[in-house]
Amino acid sequence: MDDNKYIEEINSAKSQEQLSELEIKLLGRNGIINDLLSKIKDIPNDEKREYGQKINMLKTSIDQSIKVKKIELSKQKSSVFFDKTLPGKAYPKGSIHIVSYAVEEISKIFEKIGFIRVSYPEVDWEYGAFESLNMPSNHPARDDVETSFIDVPAHLKLGKMVLTPHTSNGQNREMKRVGKPPIRMINISKCYRPNWDPTHTPMFHQFEGLCVDSDINIINLRGTLDYFAEIYFGKGTKTRLRPHHFQFTEPSFEVDISCNACKGVGTIHELSVQKKCRVCKSGWLELGGTGMVHPNVLKEGGIDPSASSGWAFGFGIERVIMMKYGLDDIRNYYSGDIRFLEQF
Ligand code: DAH
Repeated sequence: MDDNKYIEEINSAKSQEQLSELEIKLLGRNGIINDLLSKIKDIPNDEKREYGQKINMLKTSIDQSIKVKKIELSKQKSSVFFDKTLPGKAYPKGSIHIVSYAVEEISKIFEKIGFIRVSYPEVDWEYGAFESLNMPSNHPARDDVETSFIDVPAHLKLGKMVLTPHTSNGQNREMKRVGKPPIRMINISKCYRPNWDPTHTPMFHQFEGLCVDSDINIINLRGTLDYFAEIYFGKGTKTRLRPHHFQFTEPSFEVDISCNACKGVGTIHELSVQKKCRVCKSGWLELGGTGMVHPNVLKEGGIDPSASSGWAFGFGIERVIMMKYGLDDIRNYYSGDIRFLEQF
């Protein structure tokens, strides 16, 4: 009986599986130890005792060696094969919200040409939302902008507290902040109006441009609008101005951009048939309001209208996203449906 041979075998086991196999071979019911014990009947009587003791000692040392080896193997690093060429696990990845993404994109476009990004309070006084914009109290133009009032006592000079219905409230604040021209502001904020339909949500975002300096004219305005339209909506996008009325600009316009789906033609060629463009119907899409800043607005901001002039515009972020991607319901932006949001 070669005691050392069994102990060496145990010590050189490479894995728990190999060790278990050895344990069965040595200590199992039909194992070597039991086999040796069963041979005791063939041993002469006077040697039986010594033979039995030897086997028991062997059994104990095998048992102990196995226990020690088990612990040793369990401490070893798993020897499972690691294939580093296998593709990694695909964890679900979040993405920036469609509106936040547009806010960043628009900020960058204007910052590149020297505009300073600001953000003014979502809760303001009537003064900021109307009075400072050439809309005195009781002026009918205030009714054009549906406004939510906050139920707190009115300020003696600034009027009632409102949820800003547009980003134009930033104009007066920015003129006062900068002090004197030049002013190049891009104000991006949340706005509130009580509407809920495919093109309106009660909370939405606007971006307001304001440029005031000496000799600022409509040509500068058109150049800036063309620059924005080409970068944001794509090369070849054109702009056009249509006369309109706003209290805070004179003259005032609405800006349209040429539709990218039909390239401003209003019709598309589909399966050999000329059809009305589904995105715009007329070749143009309405972007928002603009104009030359009214002298009263400049005065209210502390700027001399005989020395400086300016232009301003206010466009909806949800709206420009809709126009850029050809979407038809902006309520989806806020529905929290990940399948919609993941696409952008
Ligand atoms: N405040 C206007 C609105 O919310 C948009 C607007 C029109 C802003 C003309 C302007 C502007 O700065 O010049 O409907």
